[in-house]
Amino acid sequence: MTSSTTQPFRDGYGVRDGYGVRDGHGVRDGHGVQGPPTRAWVPWSDAWQEALYGEGGFYRSAAGPAGSFATSAQGIPLAGEVLAGAVLTLMRREGLSSFVDFACGRGELVTQMHRLAPDLSCVGVDVVPRPPGLPDQIGWVQSKGGAAVPDDLGVSPGAGGVLVLANEWLDVVPCTVAEIDDHSVARIVLVQPDTGAELLGDPLDDTDLQWCQRYWPPGRMSPGNRIEVGRPRDEAWRALVAAVCRAPERGRALVVAVDYGHTAPTRPAGGTLTGFRDGLQVPPTPDGSSDLTAHVAIDALGTDELVDQRTQLQRLGVRGTLPVHALSRTQPATYLQGLARSGAECALLARGGLGDFVWAIRRLPATGPADAAGPASPAGPAGLVSSGLHG
Ligand SMILES: C[S@@+](CC[C@H](N)C(=O)[O-])C[C@H]1O[C@@H](n2cnc3c(N)ncnc32)[C@H](O)[C@@H]1O
Repeated sequence: MTSSTTQPFRDGYGVRDGYGVRDGHGVRDGHGVQGPPTRAWVPWSDAWQEALYGEGGFYRSAAGPAGSFATSAQGIPLAGEVLAGAVLTLMRREGLSSFVDFACGRGELVTQMHRLAPDLSCVGVDVVPRPPGLPDQIGWVQSKGGAAVPDDLGVSPGAGGVLVLANEWLDVVPCTVAEIDDHSVARIVLVQPDTGAELLGDPLDDTDLQWCQRYWPPGRMSPGNRIEVGRPRDEAWRALVAAVCRAPERGRALVVAVDYGHTAPTRPAGGTLTGFRDGLQVPPTPDGSSDLTAHVAIDALGTDELVDQRTQLQRLGVRGTLPVHALSRTQPATYLQGLARSGAECALLARGGLGDFVWAIRRLPATGPADAAGPASPAGPAGLVSSGLHG
């Protein structure tokens, strides 16, 4: 179900400047409002979860993500096909025969994979019931959304080695948003779901504070700076790895999350929480009418490898080279197809765009105790293989 038009893609690099702290109600004193609030104020993590995955939430709409924005997997002509080809190359190289597209939208990438390689065992997982028109051979698992991972990913027993790919999932796993107040205390940001107005609530609890001390130390930040506390993303990632470990009679497995992210040296001071609606970046308002996303602290996940998409796709044969010009005279149709494919490849490799996304990779042996799903040592900044901006 690839969109026939090109949606602006959610490059995730629009930093959250220009919004500031939007406070439509009362004067903020750094700890709360002066005067009683007239509507509910809730922590961002709760409002975000409800806005995306609650009844009537953004991701429960029939159109799914493709109705609002493009990703590497859908919405850019031919890009989904190029990505599927590269993922298939990875699977063949690694000897994997079972593919799970986790957080797959309406199954755009998994459909391409099935089309290119009908011999693969394919499953899509997302928060809606099986989309109409999905080929019968593709399995489907419905999930609750956010950090929740189903116990059973639908991998057929004995289906061989498994690749689980989660493209742009972790950035939509809600997390606590904190802001440094005038006394250098990291406080939970509260939001009014219907307006997006914000105020500061209590200091972070000990668990979140410990995560921050380790990965995003508040002590080095200035008043007004923000932290998107990545702990729920780390836990969601570990839950996905654990679910793969539980798959019965499976071969070796690769678990891959692809997202825009930052590492310790590149943490964004202003925070990255933002909204997308109809292909446009909009101020984040958790009213269910828009996507809500924030970059991932990718070095906190616990992976075996971090590599930017540009480097990873180049390894898999995606080059973005133009077709030989002489073809335009001898085989014009082939030449035009080559041009279109080259354009799609360039979009996936682009600096300042999809090429800067990070592939976070965990490798699992064929058999082993469930505790193989424990955290790998988080790859530090030196672990990020990059030919681009993240270096
Ligand atoms: C940004 S979209 C990406 C969709 C698709 N992977 C792509 O690249 O086009 C995020 C998707 O993650 C799904 N999602 C979020 N949490 C999930 C979960 N716990 N289990 C399954 N799907 C989830 C959403 O419903 C949404 O379809």
